Amino acid sequence: MSLLQLKHICKSFSGVYANENINLSVEKGEIHALLGENGAGKTTLVNIIFGLYTADSGEILWKGKPADFASPKEAIEAGVGMVQQHFSLVNKMTVLDNIILNLKGNSFFLDRAAARKKLTDLAEKYGLHVNPDALISDLSVGEQQRVEILKALYRDVELLILDEPTGVLTPQETTHFFEVLRNLKKEGYGIIIITHRMSEIMAISDKVTILRDGKQVADLTTKDTNPEELSAYMIGRELSEDYHIEGSPKNEVMLELKHVSNCHRKHSRHKLDDISLTIHKGEILGIAGVEGNGQKELAEVITGIQKTGSGEILLDGASLAGEGIRERYEAGVSYISEDRLQDSLITGMSITENLILREYKKSPFARHSLVNMSAIRKNAAEKMQQYHVRASGKSGIDTPVKLLSGGNQQKLIIARELHDHAKVIIASQPTRGLDIGATEFVRQQLTEQRNAGKGVMLISADLEEIMALSDRIAVLFGGKIVGILSREEATVQKIGLLMGGIKEEEAR
Ligand SMILES: Nc1ncnc2c1ncn2[C@@H]1O[C@H](COP(=O)(O)OP(=O)(O)O)[C@@H](O)[C@H]1O
Ligand SMILES: [Mg+2]
Repeated sequence: MSLLQLKHICKSFSGVYANENINLSVEKGEIHALLGENGAGKTTLVNIIFGLYTADSGEILWKGKPADFASPKEAIEAGVGMVQQHFSLVNKMTVLDNIILNLKGNSFFLDRAAARKKLTDLAEKYGLHVNPDALISDLSVGEQQRVEILKALYRDVELLILDEPTGVLTPQETTHFFEVLRNLKKEGYGIIIITHRMSEIMAISDKVTILRDGKQVADLTTKDTNPEELSAYMIGRELSEDYHIEGSPKNEVMLELKHVSNCHRKHSRHKLDDISLTIHKGEILGIAGVEGNGQKELAEVITGIQKTGSGEILLDGASLAGEGIRERYEAGVSYISEDRLQDSLITGMSITENLILREYKKSPFARHSLVNMSAIRKNAAEKMQQYHVRASGKSGIDTPVKLLSGGNQQKLIIARELHDHAKVIIASQPTRGLDIGATEFVRQQLTEQRNAGKGVMLISADLEEIMALSDRIAVLFGGKIVGILSREEATVQKIGLLMGGIKEEEAR
């Protein structure tokens, strides 16, 4: 009898399937990996198991009996534990207090000495070393993760679910962590581990279930598969569309990063590590990678939002050191941010106002600190037409941006950022959430910028987009560039391997 069995699990959010007919079983002593790209539905599935979400349909069997946990509390009591992507520890409390917090039968009279003993025994047995009296806030992320696991083990769970546990660990910590998992497996625990790294799947799992766009696309036995097959299933889709990429990039460099890192805090995982790359005039450099591997940081050190820790950034031969966001924009660094509403638009303001957010102090919009309203309005009307920005209703250029659709908001940003003196365009997830028409439009605009001799950095989680538009493709993994491939040598498989942290020599 399986420890856990899922039958035909379905879950949708606003009409879109996050999980569509998922079947899966986990045995005692089995490490079962869930693999999939961002948004594939992995977290949704384990949230359903753990009682955080309710499935729309389907059945969950726990040790052969129907189980539908209404809350994590019920799941834990039945024997299912989960370490979530974001930890739920109380920072101002000690390790021991966190472990015994909210325990069944917990009271003033709880025997702390016995609890301490149970904790240290567990820690010893599985190699989960941590000081019971340390404050959580003083622990590294890796140590906090150990506390989360200990907390589950302390509650005598039999199945442990780990959602992207290695995302926060260094390679060395990961090696140690896998030792812990092997110990747990030996003791008969069932384990579900979520990761998007092929090397980790190969190293630790017995079985793999691959999700793509909410669907279960493969069930494999790890020893019978290989990273190529895994990445082909994970990414899977056929590459289609051809864009009108004309001519080759010039030999002249438009943007150069030399050994760049960002300023980062001690335990921050979001660090850039010695990034060196060039973008030529008339070139689109694609940045591929699983999200959270430094993409946002890369865009932000170039645009000046984050400070450069070390290294140098040159725009058309001139150093950007010491230049702020506005100076860089004026020098020709344009930014299409992945977070439209957060970084790029002021939604309560009108189309007109948003179009001049970056230049309102300059001619022709301002002279001697007087605002030239007619020039500003003329600019808005022209840009709206040129970039096909559509506002429903009668307000036209005076429409507040919050009333525009996502596609029209994105076109507005592009209309503002793709101005004549832009030299390099940092486009981060530029088509995310757009309909097909708007997506096509945005891709065309980027291609035109390239054809006009500008440099484009296309950061995208959509590998199809990267492969369709880029002259060269760099892959970010763990804050490092792990490989740069030309358009000709790039294949989904090679890129997929690099995205999973397999080194370039091995991927070739
Ligand atoms: N609470 C939620 N509300 C709305 N949509 C959600 C919610 N949770 C997940 N989704 C959507 O479900 C899909 C799958 O997400 P998720 O399970 O988090 O993927 P993964 O963990 O594989 O990256 C995504 O499109 C995501 O936006
Ligand atoms: Mg997830």
